[in-house]
Amino acid sequence: MENNFFNVGIIDELDRVDGKAKVTGTAKYAAEYELPNLTYGVLVDSTITNGSIAAIDSKAAEKAPGAITVISHLNSPKVPGYDAGANPVKGPTGGKGLQIFNDNIIHFNGQPVALVIADTFERAVYAASLVKIQYKKEAHQTDLDEAKKNVLALEGQRYNDYLRGEADTYKNAPVKIEAEYIVPIEVHNPMEMHATIAFWSGEDKVTVYEKTQGVKSTQRSIMQAFKLPEENVQVIAKFVGGGFGAALRTWPHAIAACIGAKKTGKPLKLVLNRMQMFTMVGFRPHAVQKIGIGATPDGKLTGISHEAFSHTSQYEEFTEGIVNMSRFMYACPNVNTRYKIYPLNISTPTWMRGPGEATGSFALECGLDELAYALKIDPIELRIRNYAETDPQRNLPYTSKFLKEAYQLGVDKIGWNSRNSTPRSMKEGELLVGYGMGSGVFNASRGTARAFARLNADGTLLIQSAVADSGPGTATAMTQVASNATGIHVNKITFELGDSSYPPGPTQGGSTTTSTLGSAVHDASVALKKKIIELAKENAVFHTADIHNAKPEDFVFENGNILLAADRSKKMSFTDVVKGAGLTQVEVTEESKGSEELRKYASYSYSVHFVKILVNPATGVMRIVRAVTVVDAGKIISLKTAESQMIGGVVGGIGMALMEEGIIDHRYGRWVNNNFADYHVPVQADVPHIEALFVDKPDPVLNPIGAKGMGEVAIIGFAAAVANAVYHATGKRIRELPITPDKLIS
Ligand code: MOS
Repeated sequence: MENNFFNVGIIDELDRVDGKAKVTGTAKYAAEYELPNLTYGVLVDSTITNGSIAAIDSKAAEKAPGAITVISHLNSPKVPGYDAGANPVKGPTGGKGLQIFNDNIIHFNGQPVALVIADTFERAVYAASLVKIQYKKEAHQTDLDEAKKNVLALEGQRYNDYLRGEADTYKNAPVKIEAEYIVPIEVHNPMEMHATIAFWSGEDKVTVYEKTQGVKSTQRSIMQAFKLPEENVQVIAKFVGGGFGAALRTWPHAIAACIGAKKTGKPLKLVLNRMQMFTMVGFRPHAVQKIGIGATPDGKLTGISHEAFSHTSQYEEFTEGIVNMSRFMYACPNVNTRYKIYPLNISTPTWMRGPGEATGSFALECGLDELAYALKIDPIELRIRNYAETDPQRNLPYTSKFLKEAYQLGVDKIGWNSRNSTPRSMKEGELLVGYGMGSGVFNASRGTARAFARLNADGTLLIQSAVADSGPGTATAMTQVASNATGIHVNKITFELGDSSYPPGPTQGGSTTTSTLGSAVHDASVALKKKIIELAKENAVFHTADIHNAKPEDFVFENGNILLAADRSKKMSFTDVVKGAGLTQVEVTEESKGSEELRKYASYSYSVHFVKILVNPATGVMRIVRAVTVVDAGKIISLKTAESQMIGGVVGGIGMALMEEGIIDHRYGRWVNNNFADYHVPVQADVPHIEALFVDKPDPVLNPIGAKGMGEVAIIGFAAAVANAVYHATGKRIRELPITPDKLIS
């Protein structure tokens, strides 16, 4: 690992660099590009849940005003990547993938079966309403509880049981709990709908404006689907209006847009509607979990058993680490986990913020609270008594772990120690008061990324990388990283992203963008400074014997100047260095990735959430009145965007805890609440003042900037904190999300 061996200066509390563009409406999202001869596509969705298409009558649709064509499996141009069973649009999941317009098989209700293209959006919607489809229906299964009784679970190496020590030892422990926890389907529902604009130049070159969390990964999917070389596919995503995981994959509708644009020879815009956002771009799957935890009377964990049942689609295997956190969060000699998934007639689930762990932490962190009450030990104290000093699953030291510090910050802030821990003992007027906490963990990693940096003769710095920012504020954080490393003021730095033709950046997922890309930006900055040193040494103004022999660490970079640390009168502006060398710019491209050394460590980010709630005992109406969220995510690069990230995660957590529930009518396999009137998310009035606190200690191993990730841990463990507060307030243990008022008064 390369250390930042330079002494640098400016750390401003930077405003979001794209904030003005976003709030003034000049930021362009995928669907907002105007192109000449733009056509509009609307997808027709299956109205049955399982079976096949017997016939499609598109004559009326084709004759409708402005209609251009109707594409289905009957007439779709072949997608070359579909051959040999290949799945060009797969994420890292097993199975074949939904090959849109490739056959007449229906796997789920709402499956896209035809694409209607017209000269305006409204005419496309009307024409789509005229497409008549005859189906051959078969029996379907959309109910996980029923599937558990009647359907074979998928087997495979991704579902391997885990065992450390002995299985199910909790059953014989002096103090134990055993419970079932349920998380329903949850849907990402970002504000921006998924959208694709595709246009072809000739037969073999396509440009795609796409809502995606990864311009390079979308580029790869389209390359594979249409068997095109990299240089023939350009993917642009300059702004993304929220993703939360839904835009990690390239979904079939994006391939449909490319098919449509190719067939008509005109640019095509395809925007999903809100209902399609429930069926075409994934969701957090429903999961039933059984947790058993045993301990000695003095609160030492002796055994954890964690079992999860979830589901996937009929055509792909989606798995996530629901039970994984139980293996490594606490020191415990005996741990066993099991995970099974059942194929249902629902579309493929996908990663949603805190994938796996957000679900798993609900069981583990509530289970620990149950155990704390059984033991009569404070829940924080119980966690401290079982604090893992090294990774219990892999027997490795941590790159850094400041979870104890995080507990303490939260305990002090919320006033944890002045609560009366007896359930139903605290009141404000008629209202019951509850305090609860829950913690989260997520792997902190570092992938591979490249960044291009250009220092111009006017002293401005341009950095580019092919990453997409779904909202965390990547351009802001990268501007800060570059400023920290070069000593160039943030106002003189521009970070450009969202174009696959830039040097490859990571997909924005798994809480790794800041670590991965930040390292590349840091390394590019360091490489740039080396060039500045070389050029400065050659410059007559600067050139003296002592400078000639100076090492990189003998220089200071400050406010766009290079100085000799030992003699600060030896100073040149970057502008003079570049111009003095007879250049207009200095450029570097650096690739950065994790080292072999990292394999010797385990690396995680941690969160601890605390809430205070008020419950009306008569109506069951509950309000979260305070939320304190603390994170150990290494060094905080950009304070404002980090706070926003944590606050956003808590808002998502409030939705998960109190409101969000995807409902399917299993008689028909159709969604009941696939709209914002019926699928509830938190609004302003549901969200209290949220205090985000940071341990802010750099990780000395993971990467040169000291930052771990925080996108996922922002939500992981929050629902448990709320459920635990509900128990404290009411004495009722609610083990099924969301915690709606009816559950509190029944
Ligand atoms: Mo995140 S679920 O990896 O977008």
